[in-house]
Amino acid sequence: MTAENATAADVLVIFGITGDLARKMTFRSLYRLERRKLLDCPIVGVAFDDWSADQLREHARAAIEATGEPVDDDVFARFAARLSMVSGDFADAATYAKVATAIKGRTNPVFYLEIPPSLFGRVVDGLAGAGLTENARVVVEKPFGHDLSSAKALNDQLSAHLQEWQIYRIDHFLGKEPAMDIRYIRFSNSIIEPIWNRDRIESVQITMAENFGVADRGHFYDPVGALRDVVQNHLLQLIGLIAAEPSSGGPDGFRDKRVELFKSIRTADPKHYVRGQYAGYLDVDGVAADSQTETFVALKLYIDNWRWAGVPFFIRAGKSLPVRDTEIRIIFKRPPALPFLPKTGEQNEFIFRIDPNPGVDFVLQAKESGADASRAVNLCLTFSDEMAEAPEPYERLLGDAMHGDAGQFIREDGVEETWRIVQPLIEAPPPVEVYEQGSWGPSGANALVAGFPNWREPWLPTQK
Ligand code: BG6
Repeated sequence: MTAENATAADVLVIFGITGDLARKMTFRSLYRLERRKLLDCPIVGVAFDDWSADQLREHARAAIEATGEPVDDDVFARFAARLSMVSGDFADAATYAKVATAIKGRTNPVFYLEIPPSLFGRVVDGLAGAGLTENARVVVEKPFGHDLSSAKALNDQLSAHLQEWQIYRIDHFLGKEPAMDIRYIRFSNSIIEPIWNRDRIESVQITMAENFGVADRGHFYDPVGALRDVVQNHLLQLIGLIAAEPSSGGPDGFRDKRVELFKSIRTADPKHYVRGQYAGYLDVDGVAADSQTETFVALKLYIDNWRWAGVPFFIRAGKSLPVRDTEIRIIFKRPPALPFLPKTGEQNEFIFRIDPNPGVDFVLQAKESGADASRAVNLCLTFSDEMAEAPEPYERLLGDAMHGDAGQFIREDGVEETWRIVQPLIEAPPPVEVYEQGSWGPSGANALVAGFPNWREPWLPTQK
């Protein structure tokens, strides 16, 4: 078996079904799959909590309603009928024997591990001990290690019993519809490809701004920080989508191209790395009193290949910034000054808006009415105005995992390459600079883009 010929699951087993991620994301995503008639197997929850199937069903309904998702009774009844529960300690072989009994006769299980990575090894050992891994797929959540060597060690635990085609590593950014749209925009429009290179593009800016702080996640966040939390995974994956070459078909065709691109990204240089911490972060519950953890990062990366050599990719990401916005901005080179156009206008820009208000913008220069001058105008497409409602990231990814489509999941070589890229930043971090909440982070972020276009204000709906 390979990633290319995996077949549909005949049972979904969720470890950690009573936890936070299931409550906030999983039930809703599965319910939405049920509504779209894309769910066609039983679902077995496994947790330490001694819940009955009815308790699980009640909890599921409350969790779905709490997300604001309207619940249709018939759809929920179909969904609830799939749910059953196995309770037990993940360290106890008897738990896996109970799972084996619960899924007896099923030959294509998907095990979804919604549990801390420190438990992955134990659970996979338990499943293997009960003879359940042979034909299974195992879906796991980040973080995949906290640096290159721990990522390899974690993978050793998984690969002790599983082959690579069986492991589905989730990065929910790859399940975002506007992120998936990047390769459609790039490769299904013949006008785009000829301009998508170092001849035409001056720089690329990726912004992931969040207008809220760490809130109640201090215990999780403080040992992690912004670089590991969103850059090594989500934002590098976005670069994979913007910059990789077109692929052949099949999940591995697509993944090969992303990994090939990651291999061309030059290992990051701490000289081009800025770290910030918002004022007040040290008061967050779970944060060390003298924490040096960054809540903001800005960095510059280069891709050493024929298409991108010399084009800087700037990334900035942070908490407690002025707005919530994730966007990728491709900034094109200036046109030359011509006699009838003595002043060259602003540069063309192509913007992929990932969140909120997904869509694309194309900034063009046009004649200013009544004046002999040019000014920027914006061609703005908002996907929700033009297309049907998009699936949620987890809805898409869980559906793909159950149907055996690994294309939007991360392969181990991709995990290792992305850690390799950021490893020097982890080993030699510059000091954190404190920034005011609601600002755009430390001033060093502006110095980072010197010689290239300044950071742009994100393109938000109110600016339309
Ligand atoms: C998570 C990070 O992976 O992604 C969070 O741990 C971050 O810190 C979140 O807020 C952002 O995801 P989204 O989909 O809300 O942009």
